[in-house]
Order: sequence, then structure tokens, then C-alpha cells
Amino acid sequence: MSLAYNIIDHEYDVVVVGAGGAGLRATFGMAEKGLKTACVTKVFPTRSHTVAAQGGISAALGNMGEDDWRWHMHDTVKGSDWLGDQDAIEYMCKNAKDAIIELEHYGVPFSRTKEGKIYQRPFGGMTTHYGEGKAAQRTCAAADRTGHAILHTLYQQSLRAQAEFFIEYFCLDLIMDEGRCVGVIAYCLEDGTLHRFKSHIVVIATGGYGRVYFSATSAHTCTGDGNAMVLRAGLALEDMEFVQFHPTGIYGSGCLITEGARGEGGYLINSNGERFMEKYAPTAKDLASRDVVSRAMTIEIKEGRGCGPKKDHIHLVLSHLDPEIIHERLPGISETAKIFAGVDLTKQPIPVLPTVHYNMGGVPTNYHGEVLAKTGKKFEPVPGLMAIGEAACVSVHGANRLGSNSLLDLIVFGRAAAIKAVELLRHSSKTHEKLKPNLTEKTIQHFDKIRHANGKLPAAEIRAHMQEVMQTYAAVFRTEETLKLGCEKMKVVFDSYSDVAITDRSLIWNSDLVEALELDSLRLQALVTINAALNRQESRGAHAREDYKERDDENWMKHTLISLDTGTGKVKIDYKPVTLETLSDEVKSVPPKKRVY
Ligand code: FUM
Repeated sequence: MSLAYNIIDHEYDVVVVGAGGAGLRATFGMAEKGLKTACVTKVFPTRSHTVAAQGGISAALGNMGEDDWRWHMHDTVKGSDWLGDQDAIEYMCKNAKDAIIELEHYGVPFSRTKEGKIYQRPFGGMTTHYGEGKAAQRTCAAADRTGHAILHTLYQQSLRAQAEFFIEYFCLDLIMDEGRCVGVIAYCLEDGTLHRFKSHIVVIATGGYGRVYFSATSAHTCTGDGNAMVLRAGLALEDMEFVQFHPTGIYGSGCLITEGARGEGGYLINSNGERFMEKYAPTAKDLASRDVVSRAMTIEIKEGRGCGPKKDHIHLVLSHLDPEIIHERLPGISETAKIFAGVDLTKQPIPVLPTVHYNMGGVPTNYHGEVLAKTGKKFEPVPGLMAIGEAACVSVHGANRLGSNSLLDLIVFGRAAAIKAVELLRHSSKTHEKLKPNLTEKTIQHFDKIRHANGKLPAAEIRAHMQEVMQTYAAVFRTEETLKLGCEKMKVVFDSYSDVAITDRSLIWNSDLVEALELDSLRLQALVTINAALNRQESRGAHAREDYKERDDENWMKHTLISLDTGTGKVKIDYKPVTLETLSDEVKSVPPKKRVY
């Protein structure tokens, strides 16, 4: 290797990439059990995007009315539109209660009922008695700042357990050796050094890639760098066509207004002042699942009943709520509405629009967090590689995630990955073999090429073009025609990266370079997302095809696996069966039926 980079080598039992809720829960769980654990993160841990999670974390505690984890499982399977794997959903819902109690003991300051129990609010799609009873109050909340409370607690616990943090390090690639993951290579933003982390297990916990779209509740940093590393390693991603639009992003800025606002009694109206959700979801109304509400809002706007001078958004009404409740339960969104929409929500409605919020797809894993790849006809764990949180596709959310199941997924599967890593490494010698010298050469060459890119297009320009294509051609409603055109346009964007311009050549705090690296991650995911959407000829959950309006279980009850030649942009599509069987006989699997709310 002739390129002159200062490379520093490290050795760990486990390296966790990402310090959001899932990454920190895994880091803490592994370090606590004595594994030598490093957490490598591109942002300071408490600035990870979990900090922005508002409304809460689901668990059938039954603090505010009767509840049962089996009802939670039923709702999650139905919410997933029968694309979720029922073994994983059972595992998540059954373990939810313990996970929450654990969090409370670690120090999460949950809101309280008068009796001092953890406060729980209603959220969309959460019901009792297998959908036959009334709405469940299942979402445990710390006001409307639940993610913030969880993230701070887990960071403190990870430090207490003596996990080591490498903060503001950008991971460039997995280090793969004949199908086994043996570490990661990262770039330190502070001093420009490159770091090779040898590790028995690498855990990808890099979150979602919402920023492939123009309007997203996701932070600017949500670029799915772990998913991109997986694609570059030649592995497939699962169900990338399923992108969740949250009904209530603030019109214009995309900032999140929590579903908890509707959980506390808020409702949506069109320009005629009608509570239109009654028409689309007669029982659940404003608390139907997110895909249903987002589609209803889009139809209202398309049919000319949107609000405002351009009739291009919807109003969320909260002004009828007791100001005390707003102050106590929704303090954060009161401030957000004031700053980003200029409204006082105690007096005026908030202008809102469905906004990209979550990626159901990601790195295929089993419910232990082990990454799966197809070998022959079987799916087997990739040795040394795990994935958790939004980066992963377990799949507990299937085609549509229920609100407040995301924080639960982070915690339950972060914990599961820690348990599995301890088990896998219990009998290993924990000594590291010397890395073969050529394993990181390609990565360093790619990094160097981007750093010295001498093209004509600033990363921001390519990024804006990509976001416009995704927003226009892979939106709430999709057709063959728009998706085909979108795929062609996205391929042009993908290829235009070869003409990217970097003006700052330094290695230290070079935001120009980081933007280009993040764009490299985004363009791969945008391309596989829109191609997977074109491929799936049915409507299921968040994937609404106007030309294939119905769910087609006979042909499409299967997960998409999509891989990419990252040089040519050619995609390859394969499938993985949906698991309908449960893990135990404590619960029956939920048979497919028509999904109505
Ligand atoms: O609306 C919200 O508070 C978001 C929660 C979630 O996505 O789980």
C-alpha cells in the first residue's frame, strides 16, 4: 500500500458501530459481562438520533388498564401487514416488560401515574383482546422526550460498565476475511488517522437512512452507513422498499410532532374542518396505523381538501386539550410547534404533512441479532457479524411499524445481541489472529479516491438531486410508471457520484469529506430502495401501489433480499420466507386476514 495514512490498530472482543439506543444497550450489556467492548460512533453518543424519539416505548405492563403481551403481538403482526416474522415478534413482545423494568432500574425517568406507576399512553394500532377490545394504553413515556431519557441513561450505564468509546469516528468498511467479519476500519475526524479495529464480533447499530428523502424527521446524520458497509461487503439487505411516512411531520421543516399528541386526544382535520379519519378508519380513527393515516391525509390533499393557501397540508388540532396535560405530557412539541410552525398549539392547529420517519428494511438478522446470508437454499449467520436497531431487519415491523415499537426493538434486540455475543465468545480463546495485509487495501483506496475527488458536482448538489428523485418517485403512493422513471433517474444520480467535487483536502474536521462519505452511503441505499419498490407488485403496509391495490399473499408474502454491485449499480433480487410459526406454545401464530382499523 503506497498511500500514506497513519493507521492505528486495536483489538477488542466486540466492536459496536453506532451509539443510539440499540448500540448503547448492546455496548452496555456486553461490557457489563466482561467483554472488551468498543463503541465506535460518528456523533457524540447522546446526539444519536434516538435522542429525538418522543412518544414512548411499548410494553404490555397493564398500568393504565388491562393488557397482555399476546395482544401486543397480535397488533404488531397486523401492523406489519403479515410481513413481520412471528418468532421475532413474539420474542420482542414477551420480553418487553422485563426490558422496561430493567430500564427503569438503570435510571430512566419515566412519567408517573397518580399511584406512582409508569405512565402509559395510547398509540396507533395498539388494542386489547386481539383487536376486539378497546384501545390499549401501552406506550410508556417520559413526557414527550422518551428517547432522550433512554439514551442518556444507557450512555451513563455503558461508561459505568467501562465500555470504551471512539467518538466522532466514521466507519468506512467491515473487514471481511473469506465470508467472516473480523473487524471494521474507521476514520478519526479529529486527527485524520485511520483505525483498524480487530474484533471477534462487529455489531452494526448505525440506524436508518431517512436522509435519502427530502422531507424526513430523521437527523442530517441518518445516512445508514452500516447498511452501506453491508452492501459494499457483497451482502444483501432485506425489505428496503418499506419506508414509513409519519403522519405528523411539521409542514415545511419535517420536524416530528409525536403520535403521542393524538394519543392524548389530538385529531386531524381537512380544510372543511372535517375529522376525515372517521371515514378511513371508523374504529381507530386518528389512531389507526401510520400507513393508513398517511395515505388518508395524502388522499384528502389530492382531492382538494388540503389546508392553507396552497391546499397542500393537513391540520392537527390540540387546542381543546387541557393546557395542564399539554404542559405535563407534551412540553417538547409545544416548543417545536412554536419554533418550526410559529403556532401556539393551545390556540391554533399545527400544519402537518406525512414525512419520512423510519426504515422497516435493513440488514437481515435472526432474533439474536446475528446477520443472515443465503448459502444454497439455507439462511445462515455470517460469522462475526451482528446488526440491531433500525439498521437491522429482524423482522418485527414487516411492512409497517407501529409507533413506539421502535424504541422497544432497540432495547430488546440490543439486549439479545449482548446475550448472544457473551454466549458465542464464552468458549473462544479471545486471542486475535494477525489481519491479512490486503484486507483493508480496497477500502483505503476508495477513501483516498473520494478525498481527492476532483469533479464538478458538490456533494450537496448530488444529494439534493437524490432527495428530489426519492421524494417524487418513491413516495406514499407508487406506480410502475413512476417507479420505473424513478429507477432510471436514481441510476443517473448514482453514477453522477463519479463527478463529485471535494474542495478541502485536509483530513482534520473535514466536513466536505464527511458529507461525501455520507452521500456515498445514501446513494447505494436510495438505489436499492427504489428498485425493490419497483419489483414488489402488490400493496402491503407502507408500500402502496396504485396499480396493484391489494395485498397478494399468494405471490408476495415473502421478504425481498436485494444486493448491489456498488461499482456498476446493478441490483440483484432474491427472497426469504416469512416466519409464521411462533417460538413457544404460549401463543398461537396470527393468521393472515384483511387489515382494517
Ligand atoms: O410519534 C412518535 O412519538 C414516534 C414514535 C415512534 O416512531 O416510535
